[in-house]
Amino acid sequence: MRVHAVSLSSTIVAVVVASIAAGCGSSSTPTTPTPTPTLSFSQRIQTEILTPSCASCHTDDGRSPAAGLNLKAGSAYAALVGVASTGKPGAVRVIPGNPSGSYLVQKLEGAADIVGLRMPRNGPPFLTDAQVALVRQWIQNGAPNN
Ligand code: HEC
Repeated sequence: MRVHAVSLSSTIVAVVVASIAAGCGSSSTPTTPTPTPTLSFSQRIQTEILTPSCASCHTDDGRSPAAGLNLKAGSAYAALVGVASTGKPGAVRVIPGNPSGSYLVQKLEGAADIVGLRMPRNGPPFLTDAQVALVRQWIQNGAPNN
């Protein structure tokens, strides 16, 4: 019993010491603050989302793009940012700094007031929550062409 109590208290001491050491370690090596990690449109949005999930329909290769929206690499940015929707009067596909107001996000989330269907139109599966969060973050960042 006494042995057990000693080993328990030394365990607690070890944990406390380790926590303090960890705390000292992080405060003695300050890192440059990075409020918003750089999120590359071409690498994260185009290559990981638009090309694999959308460009089969939204392309001008051998067809006219669905909804007049060309999402293949090299065309998508100019077709999205600040461009009026062809399907919903008054809607804008991507409004920099305003993810919830961007029709692209509304179509990806299947908002109640969209015209037509939730995208990708051949879903489910739809985009994962993490993918939609990435699109939202990019728009929140000002929708840079980076
Ligand atoms: C199977 C074909 C198909 C796929 C895949 C697809 N779409 Fe669409 N998309 C359409 C069609 C057809 C329309 C027009 C009818 C509608 O809105 O339901 C459309 C409409 C849209 C619109 C509205 C355009 C406007 O100006 O009103 C957006 C935004 C859009 N798609 C984005 C996407 C994104 C982003 C993806 C990939 C995640 C995607 N789509 C995948 C066929 C597709």
